[in-house]
Amino acid sequence: MKSKPTIDAVLAGKIALVTGGTKGIGKAVVKRLELAGATVIVTARNQPEEPDATYTFIAADLSRAEEVSKVANIIHKQFGRIDIIINNMGANVYPGGGFSTLTDEHWDQALQVNLLSSVRLDRALLPAMLAQKSGVIIHISSTSSQFPIWESTMAYSVAKSALNTYSKALATEVAGKGIRVVTVSPGLNKTEAMTYFLEDYAKQSNISVEEMTQNLFERVGGVPMGRMAEPEETAELIYFLVSPAASYITGANLVIDGGNFPVVK
Ligand SMILES: NC(=O)c1ccc[n+]([C@@H]2O[C@H](COP(=O)([O-])OP(=O)(O)OC[C@H]3O[C@@H](n4cnc5c(N)ncnc54)[C@H](OP(=O)(O)O)[C@@H]3O)[C@@H](O)[C@H]2O)c1
Repeated sequence: MKSKPTIDAVLAGKIALVTGGTKGIGKAVVKRLELAGATVIVTARNQPEEPDATYTFIAADLSRAEEVSKVANIIHKQFGRIDIIINNMGANVYPGGGFSTLTDEHWDQALQVNLLSSVRLDRALLPAMLAQKSGVIIHISSTSSQFPIWESTMAYSVAKSALNTYSKALATEVAGKGIRVVTVSPGLNKTEAMTYFLEDYAKQSNISVEEMTQNLFERVGGVPMGRMAEPEETAELIYFLVSPAASYITGANLVIDGGNFPVVK
């Protein structure tokens, strides 16, 4: 008797790249894709101590053009194909305080990290997908791309908003060539970056991390579900989007935010 295929084999034989796959949302995505049978390549600036890791790790700072080329060359040489790109790495590491605190260097860095890293990586790897006539590209944006908080996310939100527009344009360009491009906009996720953000702002404001967390919930207009997402919950959406079950989804920007957005869009 034939055994039934299990849902967790759906990505068997697929080669997937997850940028920033060592922490937070990226790490959860790596685990989910591996569970689904994919062969996963991870990039980050620092290699974590994970002796049991089953992914291939490439150390790279993707905010630098030459490092993006290095990653693409290694993938071409070692794997010869690429089926899934999760452009996850990104960061809001610019000073708060609004327009007057943000220098040209901050703006440039925000765009290098949150926009141009993805633009360059896609440009280097898309030819392989076009030759295969298949592939899925995910861009991890943020709800703050549609809801900037001037005190703390101005440059980051602008860069993520540009990423949304780029993602839509690319999706339209390659939709007829077998390649899907989808944006995912997470709301608040319990990750290392979020912990750092809360601790840093709590210290600056001389309040506790709990008070700062409450302030953030209020500042984003409240989260009806009353909590942040676990990175694994966001990873589950990303997994669905790269799976064949999402074969008609392209050019969309999917929000996963516990009901935070108060309007119908
Ligand atoms: N957490 C949230 O609430 C939230 C909400 C909305 C959107 N997002 C978005 O979701 C994505 C992941 O966020 P996260 O909270 O999971 O972040 P995180 O916990 O800080 O993890 C970021 C990952 O990216 C890597 N990274 C950072 N800068 C890099 C660079 N220049 N080059 C290469 N790798 C780099 C980090 O490793 P190294 O430091 O070793 O390089 C790490 O693996 C980001 O795009 C973020 O904007 C997060």
